[in-house]
Amino acid sequence: MGAASQSALADYAYNLQPPVSEVARDIFHLHNLIMMVCIGIFIVVFATMFYSLVKHRKSSGHQAAHFHENTTVEIIWTVIPFIILVGMAYPAAKVVIEMKDTSNPDMTVKITGYQWKWGYDYLNDGVHFYSTLATPREQINGTAEKDPHYLLEVDNPMVVPVGKRVRLLVTANDVIHSWWVPAVGVKQDGIPGFIRDAWFKADKIGTYRGQCAELCGKDHGFMPIVVKVVSEDDYRAWVAKQKGSAQAAAADNGKTFSRDELVERGEKVFQANCAACHQANGMGIPGTFPALNGSKVATGPIAAHIGIVLHGGRPGTAMVGFADRLSDAEIAAVVTYERNAWNNKMGDAAQPAD
Ligand code: CUA
Repeated sequence: MGAASQSALADYAYNLQPPVSEVARDIFHLHNLIMMVCIGIFIVVFATMFYSLVKHRKSSGHQAAHFHENTTVEIIWTVIPFIILVGMAYPAAKVVIEMKDTSNPDMTVKITGYQWKWGYDYLNDGVHFYSTLATPREQINGTAEKDPHYLLEVDNPMVVPVGKRVRLLVTANDVIHSWWVPAVGVKQDGIPGFIRDAWFKADKIGTYRGQCAELCGKDHGFMPIVVKVVSEDDYRAWVAKQKGSAQAAAADNGKTFSRDELVERGEKVFQANCAACHQANGMGIPGTFPALNGSKVATGPIAAHIGIVLHGGRPGTAMVGFADRLSDAEIAAVVTYERNAWNNKMGDAAQPAD
C-alpha cells in the first residue's frame, strides 16, 4: 500500500494510530490488507446472495435440484479459502516474527506493572522511576466524561532516543497488566513471575500515548502510558538530569528539614508511591489495602509499617519494599506527612507525639 493511501487511512480517525516504527507500520499494513480481504469476501458473498434473491424471486413452484455431490464445487470451495488463508497467514507470521526479534538492542528498559502505575528501569543507564497518573483520579472523575479528548497525563513519561532499538522487558508485580503503545507497535502483557520481551525503534520525535490493556483492577482505566521520543542529545541530557535528582535525593540525607518542608515533600512522595493502593486519604480499601492510621512513630502501627517499607515489603502482596527506591529524607518526609495528616484528622493539628 502506498504512502499516500496509508496516511489517508491513518488520518481517518477510525483506523489505527499513525505508526512511528517499522513494526507498527507493518502491523498497520497487515491490518489494512486483512481488512481489504474481508471486505472483498463480504462483497462477493452478499452480491451472490442478493443476486440470487432478486433473480429468482418469482420462481415459486419450481422443484429444487437434488444431487449428492459435486467434486468441482468442493475443490473450488476448498482451494480458494486455502489460498486466501495462506495469503493472510504468511504476512501475519512475518510481522509476528519481526515483533519477537529482540536481538541487538541499543538499550534495554525493564517495565513493571503495578496496581496502578508503571515502573521503569533503564538497565544501561541506571535510571529508575515510576510513572503515575499526574492528576489524582478523584480530581479527574467527571472531567473525562465531559471532554472526550481529555488526555490522562503521567508525572514521569518514558523517554527514549529516536532511531534506537529499545528492548523492553515487561513484567508485573501484582496482577497481569499490559504495556500498550499503538504508535510504536508494542502491546505486551506483563505477567507476575515472568519476563516477556518486546522492542521498538521509534523513527520520529514526538509524544506517543498508550494505556494499560489488561483489566487489572479498579484503576485499570487510569494507568496511562506516555512515551517521549527525543533526540540522542536530549536523551543524554534527560539521563543526566534523572541521575542528578537521584544524587540530590541522596545528598538530602545529611540535611535538616523543617516540619513544614517534610510534610510538603511527604505529600508528593505519598501521592507518587502510596496513594494508588492506600488511597489519597490513607484509609486504604477495606479488606484489600490496609489503612495507614497511627500516629505513634516509635511504638504504633507506623513503626510496624516503616519496618515493612524498609524490609522488602510484604511478599505475595502488592506492597513492595522501598529501601532502594526512596532516600532517607523521603522516608522521613512521608512518615511526617502521614502522621501530620492523621493528627489533623484526630483534631490534634499541631502536636505530634514523640
Ligand atoms: Cu494495569 Cu490494567
